[in-house]
Parts: sequence; structure tokens; C-alpha cells
Amino acid sequence: MALASTVWDANLYLKFADARTRPALDLMGRLDPANAARPGHAIYDLGCGAGNISRILAERFPGAPVVGIDSSEQMLEKARSQTVDERVSFAKGDLARFEPDAPPSILYSNAAYQWLPGHIDMFPGLMKLLPPGGQLAIQMPRNHEAPSHALMRAAAEAGPWKDKLRGVGGIARVEEPSRYFDVLKPLSSDLEVWETIYQQVLTGRDPVAQYTASTGLRPFMEALDESERTPFYEAYAALTAKAYPMRADGITLFPFRRLFIVARRA
Ligand SMILES: C[S@@+](CC[C@H](N)C(=O)[O-])C[C@H]1O[C@@H](n2cnc3c(N)ncnc32)[C@H](O)[C@@H]1O
Repeated sequence: MALASTVWDANLYLKFADARTRPALDLMGRLDPANAARPGHAIYDLGCGAGNISRILAERFPGAPVVGIDSSEQMLEKARSQTVDERVSFAKGDLARFEPDAPPSILYSNAAYQWLPGHIDMFPGLMKLLPPGGQLAIQMPRNHEAPSHALMRAAAEAGPWKDKLRGVGGIARVEEPSRYFDVLKPLSSDLEVWETIYQQVLTGRDPVAQYTASTGLRPFMEALDESERTPFYEAYAALTAKAYPMRADGITLFPFRRLFIVARRA
């Protein structure tokens, strides 16, 4: 597989939409519909990507406008091209400097804040944007100790690209669950923090490498020249194929840990 793009690849990301949608829905399931549709308020989908979840938020919470925010033009283009519901809109923005145009009733974010270094320090500020009873809901992968991520580093060190990839950090570290609890507790009337390990069912060739290619592997690919990307990807794919062997039925199980936070503003 050739991976030449250095921007978010919306099509590759969507290839695993089912596995990625499940945690988004599990997070949404803990939101209180009574708080969603407040006059003059909007639901924000922070790091909305291709807008799939923004559209589901609009279906789940009729009556509330949903605004998807993302920094990637490619993702926003895909989101706009796929959306017909006039309650759903998209805007370019950096989550590190998020300032809502309309006051939020819900701030929701699926699989985005892990990209922002120091994101834990932003969460109290997000809570303060909410009215009393408003909800903050965040899901982040916390799989950085799994072989899929350790093998990125192993592949980085095992080729002529070693020096070039030495400083590449990948996804910002997601902290221990209790750290998020401690930071949000003083601002919350209700607070839930939990983790789930999903046994993701993947099929096809290099399924784990393909899965991470649109997310955690991206910073490594971006640091390489065009001609180095395919050999690096193949070195990583060979390592992941050993760590996550395909079963006789053609399925590759990819266990994946995710952290969930749902806080209600006091
Ligand atoms: C893994 S995708 C998740 C997309 C969507 N939430 C979903 O669940 O399908 C992460 C998204 O976060 C966006 N993102 C990463 N860093 C960002 C930042 N600093 N500001 C805004 N968006 C960001 C990326 O462009 C990407 O679309």
C-alpha cells in the first residue's frame, strides 16, 4: 500500500468507520437529552472530522443546532459534502483556541483531544463555557502502551530513516483516568470517567497498520520523504502482522483501550 498524503486522509479514516463509531455512540449514550436543546445554544462536535458523528448528534438531539469544528480542510470538505441536515454546520477552528460563536449546551469530542499536547489543562476552560447543567463529553484513545504504538517506534528505529524519525512524538500522551477526574471534579455536579477495551474486528491485509495509518502513524509518515514512506509503512506493517496475527477465519482482533469522560457543569 502506498501512502503519499501528508494531510488527514478522510477516506482511509472512514474505512474503519464501524470500529470507530461504536465508542462515539457509547459516549453519546451518557448525554442527557434534557440539556441539549436550550434556546440560543448549540451542541459543538470538537474535532468533528468528516462529520459522521455531528450528523448522529443532530438525529439524537432534535431541536439543537450542531456545529462541527475541525482544523483540517480536507475533513471539513468531506463533512460538508456529506451533510444535508440544515441544523448541522461546520467551521474551521483550532481546538487549542476554541471560542464558540453561540453558547454551548453540550461540548462533545470523539477521538480528537489526544492530538493536543497539554489538553488536560484545556478541559476546565471548556467546562466554564457551559451553563449549569450543560455537559462536556470526551473520548480519547489510550492505547499508547499497546504493541500497535510501540511498534511505530520500533519501525522508526529499524531503517535508514532512523535519524529523521528520532524526534517524532506521535499522539500526545493521554493521562491516567484519575488525573482527568481530579481536574474536572471541582467544576462538576456529576462526573463519570471510565475506560473500555474494545476487541475490534478487522479484516483484510495489514489491518492494524492500515487502521493506525490514518491516525497515530501519520506524524511518522509526514516526517519522511515520498520515497521512504512505503518502505517505512511496510516495515511497520510486517511488525504489526506478527503482533496481531490473522486468525484462520480471516479476522484480526485489535484490542483497543479508550478513555471516556462525561461531566455535568455544576
Ligand atoms: C481521529 S479524527 C476524529 C473525527 C471525528 N470526531 C470522528 O469521531 O469521526 C481526529 C480529528 O481531530 C482533528 N484535529 C486534530 N487536532 C485538531 C486541532 N488542534 N483543532 C481542531 N481539530 C483537530 C483532525 O483534523 C481530525 O479530523
